[in-house]
Amino acid sequence: MSRLGTSRPFPDARARHPITLPNGDVHPNTVFLANVIDHPNVEFGDYTYYSDFETVDDHAARIAPYLYPGSPEKLRIGRFCQIAHGVRFITASANHPMRGLSAFPFRVFNPDTMTAYVDEVAGYGDTVIGNDVWLGYEATVLPGVTIGDGAIVGAKAVVSRDVPPYSIVAGDPARVVRTRFDDETIARLLAVRWWYWDIARIEAALPAIEAGDIDALERA
Ligand SMILES: CC(C)(COP(=O)(O)OP(=O)(O)OC[C@H]1O[C@@H](n2cnc3c(N)ncnc32)[C@H](O)[C@@H]1OP(=O)(O)O)[C@@H](O)C(=O)NCCC(=O)NCCS
Repeated sequence: MSRLGTSRPFPDARARHPITLPNGDVHPNTVFLANVIDHPNVEFGDYTYYSDFETVDDHAARIAPYLYPGSPEKLRIGRFCQIAHGVRFITASANHPMRGLSAFPFRVFNPDTMTAYVDEVAGYGDTVIGNDVWLGYEATVLPGVTIGDGAIVGAKAVVSRDVPPYSIVAGDPARVVRTRFDDETIARLLAVRWWYWDIARIEAALPAIEAGDIDALERA
């Protein structure tokens, strides 16, 4: 039997609200993002959850408010990420034109010309979050950033540069405050990629994951 017990198995990846409180109430403000967002510019891996202090109608608008259908950039987030209240992905379309003498977006006020800045905006690229990434309360991720697998982003961090896998970043601008494991262990974790296993295998490997036992995880 896994440590999760048999009476409350790990939720189905298709659940909208994956947390049920001890009194039996479903927690309405925690969602598996893949199951509540239908937006052409976003991709979420299974089990990645977001938790807000309030009930949210439009999760895409909440977490990525400048990402419009038709924007040139995408927001791609892997599996098993943990996204706290107030996290915002400020994606490329949030940027105003900066090549000229003014950043005023004159042409967005006319539907015929509003895509005039698309090429410049597209240069910032996609926002890409790996797997098993924990983003703390009110962290802000700026356009075009890539955050590696297993990274942790501290509360209220402003992430303006790429974050290496399994590092912990904090502050404004976010800087690495420490690395979670030694280089060899990180390489082994990135090779194992447990987040792509089926959920039964992950549950069986939970004792190894929770104990930090990379040898046992590899054997699983
Ligand atoms: C980053 C975090 C996980 C702690 O990681 P840690 O490795 O234990 O870090 P430490 O507490 O040892 O701090 C390391 C350094 O980073 C700094 N630091 C840690 N978190 C910070 C933050 N959010 N912002 C700015 N600096 C931070 C510490 O002051 C310390 O600096 P120092 O070495 O100059 O003293 C934690 O501080 C944090 O931000 N947690 C977010 C929790 C959250 O938002 N939860 C929401 C629900 S999911």
